[in-house]
Amino acid sequence: MSRFKCIGILTSGGDAPGMNAAIRAVTRSAIYNGMRVKGIYRGYKGLITREIEEFFNQNVSNIIQRGGTILKTARCLEFKTPEGRKFAYERLQEEGIDALVTIGGDGTLTGARIFAQEFNFPIVGLPGTIDNDLYGTDTTIGYDTALNTIMECVDRIRDTATSHDRLFFIEVMGRDAGFLALNGAVAAGAEAALIPEISLEKDQLAEMIENGFRKSKNSSIVLVAESEVTGGAMGVAERVKKEYPQFDVRVSILGHLQRGGSPTAQDRILATRMGVAAIEALLEDQRNVMIGLQNNQIVYVPFSKAIKNDKPINRDLLNTLQVSSI
Ligand code: F6P
Repeated sequence: MSRFKCIGILTSGGDAPGMNAAIRAVTRSAIYNGMRVKGIYRGYKGLITREIEEFFNQNVSNIIQRGGTILKTARCLEFKTPEGRKFAYERLQEEGIDALVTIGGDGTLTGARIFAQEFNFPIVGLPGTIDNDLYGTDTTIGYDTALNTIMECVDRIRDTATSHDRLFFIEVMGRDAGFLALNGAVAAGAEAALIPEISLEKDQLAEMIENGFRKSKNSSIVLVAESEVTGGAMGVAERVKKEYPQFDVRVSILGHLQRGGSPTAQDRILATRMGVAAIEALLEDQRNVMIGLQNNQIVYVPFSKAIKNDKPINRDLLNTLQVSSI
């Protein structure tokens, strides 16, 4: 029998496809193990505004296929202050919640880490972000769906690029990480990817473009990760237009299209495995850990490790992209 009687669950930061599948799995697994579950709305904000509701099996019926998050999400400034966190702690006590499962990205885990330390409160985190930028897990909930969306969008844009002999710069999300851009480029057969992890000299970009066209390609697609380092698709396109006025350059920014939609099978399975694992972790008295997946095995990653370390990109993939796009 678990020492936890009631767990709280929340989603925070940017929504990601598969968050609902995770909410469903956490709720059902907690109930299966004899615990009560309370859904906290709008992330940490719901703890301050008291938007909390008891969840039963039926609250999470018919949501595994839905994008976004039924618990809604928000970025909460009050939770960044000691007073705000104290107030949140008092609400948890009032509600009889004795452990938390938080689903989100870097900001969510950072908030969880501080709160857990300050109040000695058990928290387990699930990595929910399309950016895939959390250290200690091969993939995050939502990443695979976003990657598939990017691939489909690029496939469509390629029709126009080919028909008009154009050079397209397509900007994808990822915050400070290039996972979506690099993997999206390989999946969609793009000519190149500009990512923040690898700074490209101006000349290298020029060489890449010239090579592409010299090799009798009439159109090209370059995926650009949003970031100050890459300058974004607009910035890159401006530079290229000046130097190569002969090219018919276009920019497409995929934006929030990448965040929505029904989760892929892979994201649903990942979210369900991680949701069940979160409750198992609490039953094993694990606390202040993120559930990760490494080599298809569930692992527990201390918050400090998941947040502090930069997740490295797979540099072999850059070579793969180069070789496969000649
Ligand atoms: O972290 C997910 C993400 O979609 C990033 O890729 C992007 O930089 C950011 O969120 C956008 O945030 P918002 O929806 O608040 O504009």
